Amino acid sequence: MKKLGMGLVGPGFIAAHHLDAVRRLGDVEIIGIAGSSLESAKKRARELNAGRAYASYQELLADPDVHVVHNTTPNHLHREVSLAALRAGKHVISDKPLASNAQESRELFEAARDAGVAHVVTFNYRGHALVQQARTMVAKGKLGAPVFVHGRYLQDWLTDERTYSWRLDPKLGGASSALGDIGSHWCDLAEHVTGSRITSVLADLHTAVPVRLAPAESTKAFAKSKSAQRREVKITSEDIASVLLRFDNGARGCLIVGQVLPGHKNDLRLEVNGRLASVAWQQEQPNELWLGQHAQANAVLAKDPATLDPLARGYAHLPAGHPEAWADAFRNLIADAYDWIRRGGTPDTKPPALPTFADGYRNSLVIDAMLRSHAAGGVWQDVEEPLGPQRKKGKRG
Ligand SMILES: NC(=O)c1ccc[n+]([C@@H]2O[C@H](COP(=O)([O-])OP(=O)(O)OC[C@H]3O[C@@H](n4cnc5c(N)ncnc54)[C@H](O)[C@@H]3O)[C@@H](O)[C@H]2O)c1
Repeated sequence: MKKLGMGLVGPGFIAAHHLDAVRRLGDVEIIGIAGSSLESAKKRARELNAGRAYASYQELLADPDVHVVHNTTPNHLHREVSLAALRAGKHVISDKPLASNAQESRELFEAARDAGVAHVVTFNYRGHALVQQARTMVAKGKLGAPVFVHGRYLQDWLTDERTYSWRLDPKLGGASSALGDIGSHWCDLAEHVTGSRITSVLADLHTAVPVRLAPAESTKAFAKSKSAQRREVKITSEDIASVLLRFDNGARGCLIVGQVLPGHKNDLRLEVNGRLASVAWQQEQPNELWLGQHAQANAVLAKDPATLDPLARGYAHLPAGHPEAWADAFRNLIADAYDWIRRGGTPDTKPPALPTFADGYRNSLVIDAMLRSHAAGGVWQDVEEPLGPQRKKGKRG
């Protein structure tokens, strides 16, 4: 089989995991990377053993050996880089959120839909075998009708007021911080597992750390700077959020999100209560799915390819008892992406679990409704309907 060539723009924290995932596929060649300068690209290309270093993303896009572009730049560059890649006829795998706001996401969705290439957004929690198991159980009616969908994504990496990131600057990260950064993952997961859409939201946002002491120089994502030179930065985006949710199947729900909550690392949890049974999954214990029942004993389903539903089994690669986790789920999503690319990137060949720009656009509309709800003083807001063709043509997932 002919190897596909990939190029990556934005070689920071998450980029290394895109490259790892691609390497594990075996049939994709890493052609090269573009960073914020030729020097930074050269340095990272050496560190990550990532092929050629380009002076700019435009130079990377001009390389005919690059068939697929991974966009792992900070959020404010997602639109520009992904649009240019689509216009150059490349398949695009963008990290989340799809763009800085709903308007930009819509533009990207329209361009991707019209480009006739594969377009993927990395809502990578879909790649866990037990997430697919939960989704399959809901779809097959094992839980009965879902009535309550709730959970959290809590972190503590922004607890220290001396930690600063581009994520907190609305010009670079977008108007939303915690919701856009990690609430987006939860909303996608909740909709993917339930097969239902969030239709209205009531959000209360808060900035618990309104002033930060940022290092004078910029820092890598998630890194604590030891710099003694500090500048005060006023923070306008939320680091805590509580949101009530209504779903299109009538289910109710709620979500709490925060990034300044001591002790919580990547505490992503989703629970779905149906009329017959419940399921709950936690990102930090991804090899277990809790099954709740009313008139029988509760159970914990362990990740075991031998007992998983056939639709979920392909996402588990190791025998029972060998844990699979974040990096494996990420690999699964990237494997689905390249599978779709090899099948031509047409709507009917998309693997059902793979998130596309349509999902990224929809997700932006959900976050946008949360921001509107808070800005209006905490009142219910409807999630805007995405463009017609997404609803008409799009399949579940
Ligand atoms: N899927 C996930 O779970 C996950 C996890 C972390 C980050 N992300 C997303 O990945 C993206 C990057 O986040 P990160 O944490 O890796 O950030 P980061 O700051 O570590 O990396 C961003 C990289 O982009 C580079 N860059 C800046 N300007 C550029 C330009 N003009 N051209 C090319 N490169 C440029 C920076 O030098 C840096 O190397 C964000 O959109 C973030 O939301 C997703």
